[in-house]
Amino acid sequence: MKKVGIVGLGEYLPEKILTNADLEKIVDTSDEWITTRTGIKERHLVQEGQATSDLAFLAAQKALKNANLKPEDLDLILVATITPDMPFPAVAAIIQDKLGAKHAAAFDISAACAGFVYGISVAEKFIASSVYKNALVIGAETLSSVTDWQDRNTCVLFGDGAGAVVLSEVKKGGIISTYLGCDGSKVGILNLPAGGSRNPATTETVRNRQHYLKMQGNELFKIAVNTMTEAAQTVLKQAGMTFSDVDLIIPHQANERIIMAVAKKLGIPKERVYLNIERCGNMSSASTVTALCEAVEEGKVKKGDIILLDAFGAGLVWGACVIEW
Ligand code: UT7
Repeated sequence: MKKVGIVGLGEYLPEKILTNADLEKIVDTSDEWITTRTGIKERHLVQEGQATSDLAFLAAQKALKNANLKPEDLDLILVATITPDMPFPAVAAIIQDKLGAKHAAAFDISAACAGFVYGISVAEKFIASSVYKNALVIGAETLSSVTDWQDRNTCVLFGDGAGAVVLSEVKKGGIISTYLGCDGSKVGILNLPAGGSRNPATTETVRNRQHYLKMQGNELFKIAVNTMTEAAQTVLKQAGMTFSDVDLIIPHQANERIIMAVAKKLGIPKERVYLNIERCGNMSSASTVTALCEAVEEGKVKKGDIILLDAFGAGLVWGACVIEW
């Protein structure tokens, strides 16, 4: 099997910023509540008319440039998203066309906040087994389009954005281990109830606000902490490593308190945890990948470093990955 690594990265965050002070004018909330309960100060939101593929495309272009590859070099495009432009076709197909990646197969992955980790795990297998040479994996979301701006329990949490990576064969380092999991018995605690084949859109589903994301945050909190801790332990064990080997953990950014509880359980000091939640909120599949892009951009990931991606979300699904940079 070939060694597979990340050879290019890029992110795109829409320009518009919604601060906690802005939210205070929309729902009964406060900067103090949002900051202390979540760690979020502001989030990026799309402009009217901007969709997930628009964000994904800009991130993809940057990642390709960073990898020094042309669109024609791509064999595979995966887009992790729960907010596609439309139910079908896939955002990945739209990206394939926009980039002009005429040799690439393309499909979407629906694994919510763990979608990017699922994506790199799938793409890695194609390259490791010599089926494909170069894959583009994108995490992109327009969560503002499924956010109920009347529900203070959820509307303060989410943001829009996209990140992309190019995976190719590497001589040294690369992806050492990946671990994916699912517990489908808890579909009910985080979902979008209508608009699919179970509850197709009707005037009633619209009136009942069923086209917005619903979340039992409190219940999810504990499960998130335990599951992300276990996923990290499992993937490191698979890699034959311990937490002292990890230079930087780049977790899904749902809540700073969840992240810090996981780090504490794992014995990883604060300085080795990367956060962008304060500036971006929770961007589901785009969170882990944009955090990775920013950590690299800021020089917090050096050649030879061991990084740990750890994500958890609706499904419930989770995924973790150990990479030697
Ligand atoms: O992305 C992957 C999956 N997502 C997660 O893993 C998210 C996990 N959950 C969380 O991050 C947290 O549970 C939340 C941030 C969603 C909520 O924080 P919490 O500390 O669990 O708060 P809570 O839901 O227990 O609510 C506490 C209180 C309630 O008031 P009462 O019933 O105690 O009077 C809420 O009504 O805070 C109230 N509240 C708010 N107050 C001001 C809820 N949202 C707000 C708000 N502003 N925006």
